[in-house]
Amino acid sequence: MKTKLVIGNWKMNLDFGAAEDLATSIQEAIENFNLKTEVAICPPFPFLELVTDLADESNFYAGAQNCSQYDNGAYTGEVSAAMLASLGVNFCIVGHSERRKLFNESNEVVARKVDKLIAEDLIPVVCCGEQLEDRKAGRHFEVVEKQVKESLFHLAKNDFEHVVIAYEPVWAIGTGETATPAQASEMHAFIRGLVEKKYGSEMAYNTYILYGGSCNAKNALELFSSPDVDGGLIGGASLKSADFVEIIEAAETSVSEN
Ligand code: 13P
Repeated sequence: MKTKLVIGNWKMNLDFGAAEDLATSIQEAIENFNLKTEVAICPPFPFLELVTDLADESNFYAGAQNCSQYDNGAYTGEVSAAMLASLGVNFCIVGHSERRKLFNESNEVVARKVDKLIAEDLIPVVCCGEQLEDRKAGRHFEVVEKQVKESLFHLAKNDFEHVVIAYEPVWAIGTGETATPAQASEMHAFIRGLVEKKYGSEMAYNTYILYGGSCNAKNALELFSSPDVDGGLIGGASLKSADFVEIIEAAETSVSEN
């Protein structure tokens, strides 16, 4: 079984002091682990340098939560992929459902952001996931297929290999309601099938597909035990060092058990 990837998405939480405490506490907790799991922390922009500095001397990576679809210039308030790269950031989440819903981020915009990140050698973590009404109406596969194809399938093979996909059913985000391991596995296998059809079976195997949505210290092991779930994109539970570290441990255990 391949190693897992666990990414913490802090969203718009904490202040500088609290961010420093949390990042330091995670660093201290995992510094002596001989980790096989890859770990990344995605703080809000103002705290990124704090995390990149710590990441330099630690066994985790720094990630951003968003980037601009533009290169540079008169885009007040925006942050470019090149700026992130110059800070030493390795990952960047794009197309999170909160950005799709609250900031009208379309698949087309996500695709442009992905291009900017790849051009800067950053790893895009591209989110997809259906709303509750889509699932109730049995449209969840269709919705996710459209998001994945329109956000990613313009990429050439040698660019696609740098992409991480995160399946985050919108109804499970911040609600305490997690997809069952069977629901997560089923959708991950479906997404992997799409990747296989487009880019071949080796790429499908190698592509990391993370689960996100109320993933926590209690349910992580069961979710990560599916061979199609390559780790997690963690919101609320990444804001507590002990919980986040337990999730990383679950990722380690899920690999060693298989
Ligand atoms: P929660 O883990 O808080 O449900 O958030 C998931 C998420 O949106 C991660 O990007």
